[in-house]
Amino acid sequence: MRPVEITKGIYDVGVIDWNIRDFHGYSTYRGTSYNAFLIVDEKIALIDTVKKNFADQLLDNISKIVDPKKIDCVISNHTEMDHSGGLPRVMHRVGEDKPLYCSNMGAKNLTRHFPQQWNYHAVGTGEELSLGNRTLTFLETRMLHWPDSMFTYLKEDKILFSSDGFGQHYAGHERFDDEIGDDIMLHAKKYYANILLLYSPLVLKLLDTVAQLGLEIDMICPDHGIIWRKDPGKIINAYAKWAKQEQEKKAVVVYDTMWHSTQAMADEIAAGIAGEGVSVRPMHIRSSHRSEIMTEVLDAAAIVVGSPTLNNQLFPTVSDFLVYMKGLKPLNKIGAAFGSYGWSGEAVKLINKELESMKFDVIDPGIKIQYVPEKKGLEACFDLGKKVGKAINEKR
Ligand code: FEO
Repeated sequence: MRPVEITKGIYDVGVIDWNIRDFHGYSTYRGTSYNAFLIVDEKIALIDTVKKNFADQLLDNISKIVDPKKIDCVISNHTEMDHSGGLPRVMHRVGEDKPLYCSNMGAKNLTRHFPQQWNYHAVGTGEELSLGNRTLTFLETRMLHWPDSMFTYLKEDKILFSSDGFGQHYAGHERFDDEIGDDIMLHAKKYYANILLLYSPLVLKLLDTVAQLGLEIDMICPDHGIIWRKDPGKIINAYAKWAKQEQEKKAVVVYDTMWHSTQAMADEIAAGIAGEGVSVRPMHIRSSHRSEIMTEVLDAAAIVVGSPTLNNQLFPTVSDFLVYMKGLKPLNKIGAAFGSYGWSGEAVKLINKELESMKFDVIDPGIKIQYVPEKKGLEACFDLGKKVGKAINEKR
């Protein structure tokens, strides 16, 4: 239950959103939380707020510790409305004239979201704010994942308030990594694959900057999910691996199907890949949400895409997935295409074009089979799978 005292005088006053299942197109089958942090020192600071419809719950949580009017300043690490939507209610209770700290871009972006003329204090990397016995240092993290994003570091307690960074969409009463164990890593991986993957070069730069600054980190407090206190290095190392797009000996066969012909092809391709000792995930697009598929794509070495031809085009769900994957910029993948068709058969050519535009190494012209695959066609699919499996083995 919130609030939770995460260390002496510092509280998570955020809220749990148990029921959200679609977070702007990301499937949140375990819900999420909007974390916000109250630091009670000589001065009292609130870091981030919550979604608009949870603002009263946030204020109730704060009220269990201090009267919100006693908050001296509010810090907005990120403008996106799951963290800023509650600002109007919060600033109204805290006091409209209280200082609101954010990055330069934060000040610009918040004014594009809210008409109120708040007392903005724009801060840059390295600027400090003393709360009395504690000092906050700001670290801009532009485009991780919005232009306004920043982290706030509390040096006396060695806590990094990391906004969306290191977050996970997970709703639970557990507050810390040591209360949940490794199960949380899948949620963190999914978050990275679907929110941060395209900014991987910036993640690597940020990790370098944090190392150069010599920031000691005992605890990472993201704005979603659990807090990393047992082993913050574990999630930092995982980010380094994901940002480098390190690959496992693994392929994803992603497809849709109309009358099970493309599905039969997918199964044979997957069997061929597995026959080469490579791990493979066949994923039917209407059975697995695109955000789940992206989680598997993150560390896969090859992506094999299958689509029936419908009205001379890709099947719409396949098109949707390709657009989504392209935006997230996975790098250095092996690619191949396949699909069943009735009379025109453009899908394979269209998939190849998309894979090439993502700079995938398309290792085969692809296989298209009219109507229902027979033995010879299925053997060709199996052989394509073997070719993909061999290419993965050679790459490693
Ligand atoms: Fe959790 Fe970018 O907002």
